[in-house]
Amino acid sequence: MNNDNKQTNLLNQHNHIQQLFEHPVRLLAPMEGLSDPLMRQILTQIAADLGRPYDWSVSEFIRVTQHVLPAHVFYKYVPELHHDAKTESGTPIHVQLLGSEAQLMAECAAFACELGAPAIDINFGCPAKTVNNHRGGSVLLDEPEVMYEIISAARKAVPAHIPVSAKIRLGYTDTSKMDDIRGAIADSGADWLTIHARTKTQGYKPPAYWDKIEAFNKLKIPVIANGEIWTAEQAQSCMQQAGTSHLMLGRGAVTRPDLIARVDGSKSINDLVDSSMTDTKTLTWQALIPHQIKFLEGQAKNDIVLVGRYKQWLGMLTKGYSEAQVLWESIKREKNKATIITALQTSAQP
Ligand SMILES: Cc1cc2nc3c(=O)[nH]c(=O)nc-3n(C[C@H](O)[C@H](O)[C@H](O)COP(=O)(O)O)c2cc1C
Repeated sequence: MNNDNKQTNLLNQHNHIQQLFEHPVRLLAPMEGLSDPLMRQILTQIAADLGRPYDWSVSEFIRVTQHVLPAHVFYKYVPELHHDAKTESGTPIHVQLLGSEAQLMAECAAFACELGAPAIDINFGCPAKTVNNHRGGSVLLDEPEVMYEIISAARKAVPAHIPVSAKIRLGYTDTSKMDDIRGAIADSGADWLTIHARTKTQGYKPPAYWDKIEAFNKLKIPVIANGEIWTAEQAQSCMQQAGTSHLMLGRGAVTRPDLIARVDGSKSINDLVDSSMTDTKTLTWQALIPHQIKFLEGQAKNDIVLVGRYKQWLGMLTKGYSEAQVLWESIKREKNKATIITALQTSAQP
């Protein structure tokens, strides 16, 4: 490629990223075992129905260890690749990779793009022992030079028009390496950065240290804040403290699937004109029931798995809806899918 073409490519890529971030982005977090393709399908549909679709979501991490993964692995984790890498409601799904071998990660990233990935995200946040013991996920936050190698190798291997991003925590055991991590990201060519505002040691326990994200705004790339956003008010505080308008929603979005609409609804012009408009941003328990039934009728290995997954979701919904608590009490020992669907239908009656 001659220099002129390279310049044009870089410019096009820059414009593409600018377009993606020209308004505050709202993302559905990757959550292994929770925001799987079925849950992504349901949550992105609800958001679209409420008039505030997610800008994109990220797949559960795909672990890269010894060889370039075959296509069926990518399709298993990201079946959306069969459909232009979008959920039924049209939300793009980015492919997340986790591993420590730069060249292998790069080859997998390039292959995922051949299969239709619209963007590649690299996981530097996973706290799982098995993953960390194999030098994957958050443990690499202690080795910023390896982070640099992985991201830059992926950036080089992936076509210029396809973004490569990274998702990090604030550090492994503490935040002492934050400056080095920022430097590694700056040099790597990453197109944007998502930050879960806790160290690995802090796990998933509140609080999240949103103010620590601020230091990453020195980077010349967009920064997305994540962690412990359960309400619209917390979303506003997070944006203020982190100094960015871009957010990724995790467990809060599963607990209150209308969270995304409430986050932006709380500031909409309609609200200023007519406060009753806020109702359009809220999903009632009644309105959520068909989505729960759809979830139970979704695809899974078998009904036992599906019922288990549904109970996991219902358990989380009890934090967002008082009605969920009542249903939970009545079905917590139930194993039969049809009985649970009937209980849901009954729960719909006011
Ligand atoms: C069950 C579960 C699985 C997760 N799996 C992933 C994953 O595959 N990749 C990733 O980058 N982060 C993963 N995360 C982290 C989330 O993306 C997010 O950073 C974290 O939950 C903080 O956001 P929250 O407090 O809004 O939930 C996971 C979190 C949970 C709770």
